[in-house]
Amino acid sequence: MPRINTHYQKLRAGYLFPEIGKRVRAFASAHPEARIIRLGIGDVVLPLPRPIVEAMKAGAEEMASAETFRGYGPEQGYEFLLEAIAENYRSQGAEVAADEIFVSDGSKCDTANLQEIFALDNVVALTDPVYPVYVDTNVMAGRTGEADEGGRYANLVYLPTTAENGFDPPLPAKPVDIIYLCSPNNPTGAVMSRVSLERWVAYARKEGAVILFDAAYEAFIREPGLLHSIFEIPGAREVAIEFRSFSKTAGFTGTRCAFTVIPKEVYGRDASGAPIPLRALWNRRHTTKFNGVSYPVQKAAAAVFSPEGSAAVQANIDYYMENARIIRAGLAVAGYRVYGGVNAPYIWLRVPAGMTSWDFFDRLLGEAHVVGTPGSGFGSCGEGYFRLSAFGLRENIQEAIERIRTKMKI
Ligand SMILES: Cc1ncc(COP(=O)(O)O)c(C=O)c1O
Repeated sequence: MPRINTHYQKLRAGYLFPEIGKRVRAFASAHPEARIIRLGIGDVVLPLPRPIVEAMKAGAEEMASAETFRGYGPEQGYEFLLEAIAENYRSQGAEVAADEIFVSDGSKCDTANLQEIFALDNVVALTDPVYPVYVDTNVMAGRTGEADEGGRYANLVYLPTTAENGFDPPLPAKPVDIIYLCSPNNPTGAVMSRVSLERWVAYARKEGAVILFDAAYEAFIREPGLLHSIFEIPGAREVAIEFRSFSKTAGFTGTRCAFTVIPKEVYGRDASGAPIPLRALWNRRHTTKFNGVSYPVQKAAAAVFSPEGSAAVQANIDYYMENARIIRAGLAVAGYRVYGGVNAPYIWLRVPAGMTSWDFFDRLLGEAHVVGTPGSGFGSCGEGYFRLSAFGLRENIQEAIERIRTKMKI
């Protein structure tokens, strides 16, 4: 028998969503009459907008004729999509070239795989609470020690983001090499200010660190003056890599398309200390391990930037953000302290004093028949918080909030 990668044995078994599923199933079988509303997992509910489906269909139609049929495409993505993405960056005030963009089938894979191009002895910093993929993939790679009682792994540097610091990631107390930042944030719903991003870019430049910036939710930013890309900060091109996804932006969670931007100016160093462009390493990795996103899906993704596509996508985002407003307002009236939900589709609420996140989960399910996500599942600093997602149908959101206001006995 071959030996396994024992780093996998350090993983705290995919605990959060299976445990939620188990508790919901147990409740549903004990209360078959209950109509459970799920605001837990952050999946979209609105269908793909018509202009995007039409583009996908046209792409599929081309595959049916010998003149327009396409086999393997460029692993990095078709030029028409790369150009549309680069143009979108320009319209947001960030300079990104088409050959710095790598189209993929998801930001989950990209944020998970990017760490492969770095040595194992780099020190990794990430926020607490955090999108768990950043943590688990570094554990699997062997970049961490064992987890402690609270679920924190040795050798990772955790940056607490709580109400006390306005959910703004503090600079690390010791030098780090790789920093994962996510803004707008899953799970806290917070968005980093220009000042905060400038501080991080300055830190990375001074310390020779690289920022892995997850902007999967940038399209949900509403307030003017907030930055959509880290590349809007002067000097970021030397120290940052950015991830974006069509999943939440345009309803592609089931269709699958995303991209990663690696500017030509961002470098790592080899064993002799010589600078090596990270873009070249990722290009090697991507072309070796990935064979491109399907042509019809890339046609659909390009349609997101067309006038009709972008209007339709914007309407869906407006819909979700109105849900977020309804959740925030309803919870505030019910006496909860709420965060997020203004520039992000997640609402992060403080559970009532004396309760844990899981206590609140059980009460919410038992009394209001609503499912959310316990904050402690995203890290120890998430204890005492709870995430509700604005990705729901309006009538379900309204009913969930009504039930929380009238049926919860807290
Ligand atoms: C912060 C963050 N990054 C990345 C992803 C993954 O997105 P994709 O569907 O592109 O894999 C998610 C999905 O929930 C997310 O919350």
